[in-house]
Amino acid sequence: MDLIPAPRLADFHEGGLRFEFGPDPVLAAGPGAGGAARRLRRELGGATGWSLPPATAGADGAVAAIRLRIDPAVGAGQGPESGPGSASVSGPASEAYALTVDRTGVELAGASEAGLFWGVQTLRQLLGPDAHRKAPLPGRTWSLPYVRIADAPRFGWRGLMLDVARHFMPKDGVLRYIDLLAAHKLNVLHLHLTDDQGWRVEIKRHPRLTEVGAWRARSRWGHRASPLWNETPHGGYYTQDDIREIVAYAAERHVRVVPEIDLPGHSQAAIAAYPELGNTDVVDTSALEVWNDWGINENVLAPTEAVLRFYEGVFEELLELFPAEVSPFVHVGGDECPKAQWRASAAAQERIRELGVDDEDGLQSWFIRHFDTWLAERGRRLIGWDEILEGGLAPGAAVSSWRGYGGGIAAAEAGHDVVMCPEQHVYLDYRQAGGPEEPVPIAYVRTLEDVYRFEPVPPKLSPEAAAHVLGAQANVWTEVTEDQARVDYQAFPRLAAFAEVVWSPQPAPEERDFARFEERMAAHYARLDALGVGYRPPGGPRAGERGPPGPGAADEGAPPHELQAENSHGVG
Ligand code: ACM
Repeated sequence: MDLIPAPRLADFHEGGLRFEFGPDPVLAAGPGAGGAARRLRRELGGATGWSLPPATAGADGAVAAIRLRIDPAVGAGQGPESGPGSASVSGPASEAYALTVDRTGVELAGASEAGLFWGVQTLRQLLGPDAHRKAPLPGRTWSLPYVRIADAPRFGWRGLMLDVARHFMPKDGVLRYIDLLAAHKLNVLHLHLTDDQGWRVEIKRHPRLTEVGAWRARSRWGHRASPLWNETPHGGYYTQDDIREIVAYAAERHVRVVPEIDLPGHSQAAIAAYPELGNTDVVDTSALEVWNDWGINENVLAPTEAVLRFYEGVFEELLELFPAEVSPFVHVGGDECPKAQWRASAAAQERIRELGVDDEDGLQSWFIRHFDTWLAERGRRLIGWDEILEGGLAPGAAVSSWRGYGGGIAAAEAGHDVVMCPEQHVYLDYRQAGGPEEPVPIAYVRTLEDVYRFEPVPPKLSPEAAAHVLGAQANVWTEVTEDQARVDYQAFPRLAAFAEVVWSPQPAPEERDFARFEERMAAHYARLDALGVGYRPPGGPRAGERGPPGPGAADEGAPPHELQAENSHGVG
């Protein structure tokens, strides 16, 4: 069977026997399995038309065709291969499940509710592509192959980052992505909620963050060197109730949401809303607008106590929206903060002397340390991009290693938890083929095979340091990925390969059987079709999927390596 991600162990009946379901199978849910039963009724119920009536004790002795139960012993011996993680991140063993299909029907046991939920995803894949539809096709009947599966994930952090700041993804799109993550057994959605080009979460005490900060007048169309502009204003934001809904929807699917408020760089939208947040002795921040261009922006937060208080207010509201059980980690960005304004600012220089730090890197570190302590006092953990290593890493901080493996290696060797997301491997906005036909083909070429061979744990890590790799995430930045169709195109099929990297046991990258994975992808494309995902077809883009002409589009004629050099640090 062509399961993706591949399970740890799957033993199919050699004679090819199958269990045939009747018109409305009975569902029995043991103690604690009610949530999984609800999910099964909703997800399979849509595709099959089944109501899955509950088994009633002693009614007519009919055996329930689907039986769900929690059994902590299922995870025994499937301990984490990597990472004790943190107490607040569910570990691989707790996400284990065991699935048996035989002549009596389906027996699904999960080490926890999460394990059961991942088992339900496997069940859905075994039923066939049409089990991923939202309504039954006429005349369809359902059966399953006899099989025994024992499965557990390789990592506890299996994530996708969506940049909803550069281009806003409306709420229904985010809910849809949570379903797509769940279908691939991915369990972390990192939402990049703020950037120079937009602020996307309602903060009641600072209403201008969305009144002003959520909208920009126009956008550069294509890569940042493109001469073209899209003159349509762009924007949008999530209300606090939208966020509560997103978080609850994710939690029901065992997906944790990591909110990111990017500071002290990538902050022009906030400064446009509240000019006093910027370096007012260097620039007239009252003249700043939400940025309409791409790249690294000089307008960064001023290193003042007032700015700390402002952002504490933001985080206070955020912590209420993202409860600790669902979002133990809070991301504070920390990437790409140019220091030119702090060098030019008398106030910032005075601050360096007051704080007794060495230089501008010390100011950046001061920002991050402040929120590390502040979040820890509230039972949360700070995570930031690997630039937070500059000037000294805050004691409890975890690192998203994006500029390659280096930051992650340094942090892990120093005893910090790490999420690997090196841009050279898993930035899914980067082009996925080298030809001239990709839509706005930016940065490195990273094919489906490249992502399949991505290894989150670099071989040179000591075993102690390797245990600090919580897992990995793929990142989708949206400067040139401006709507859901483009996000689908960039994310898929590569996210399916990524899911297998972080879920399934993996040999060394060069020993991975990509040919076999591609064969299994044939079945998976049919699932993605049933789910309505606009993936990149193996043969290249469909008509109408090419981007605007100009620099960054391959018809400009620039050889790929020039685009790489130009993009590697400017686009994300
Ligand atoms: C990043 O790509 N700037 C984290």
